[in-house]
Amino acid sequence: MNKKGIVAGNWKMYKTPGEGRKFIEEFNNLMLKIDDVEVIFCPPFPALFNIDVILRNSPYKLGAQNCHWESEGAYTGEISGPMLAETGVDYIIVGHSERRHIFGETDEWINQKVSAVLDGELKPILCIGETLEQRKRNETKKVLETQLQKGLNNIDNISNVMIAYEPVWAIGTGETANTVQVKEAHNWVREILADLYTRDVADQTAILYGGSVKPNNAAELFEIKDVNGFLIGGASLNIDSFKEIILEVKGILEG
Ligand code: 13P
Repeated sequence: MNKKGIVAGNWKMYKTPGEGRKFIEEFNNLMLKIDDVEVIFCPPFPALFNIDVILRNSPYKLGAQNCHWESEGAYTGEISGPMLAETGVDYIIVGHSERRHIFGETDEWINQKVSAVLDGELKPILCIGETLEQRKRNETKKVLETQLQKGLNNIDNISNVMIAYEPVWAIGTGETANTVQVKEAHNWVREILADLYTRDVADQTAILYGGSVKPNNAAELFEIKDVNGFLIGGASLNIDSFKEIILEVKGILEG
């Protein structure tokens, strides 16, 4: 299996359209040679149009952070996949833990979103992960299994799906999961995918890690066999730290 290297920045609710544009312009001007690393920016909705224009001539990809499962309707405050597609996004993050835990998204909604994103010929990044309480109660494996089973319910083809393992307790806390924990969880996710689909499909599926990834821990995490890249919050908001992480991943891919 050729190891994939994906670095996605989830800006969450940070950066206005103007700030986002400035950031991307500056980043683009670095003319980084990213080679086989796939770099994805996921800004807040209003910044998408602004940024798409700059990214069209770059090797970078664009993603959104959420969407509704219907393509249109009376859903005040929501935004649909087809609307996002017109902004030039290739990816949509689905089921982020902040959506699950702050906004009460259920596995059933998340499943509908995965399905809608795929129907719209975009690529979902399906986030899963246990809380600290669940980990302490030794429920991590069960939680990941349930979130994957339900999130991918009735999805026959996952060739356009990425999975992001983001332990809730490691998000924005500065407390990264250690390499043993990440290795175990990613291996488990791959086993579940092999069980739900086939070994080959499982091996082809990119599994990202997210949770306090920084330049100083990116290399040891990316060395883990089943880690195909990162979904990065805080460190993606800073040009230097985001660049450093990309270069760490690139360095390891190049061996
Ligand atoms: P941090 O990198 O800030 O911990 O956030 C991770 C995350 O939630 C990415 O989706």
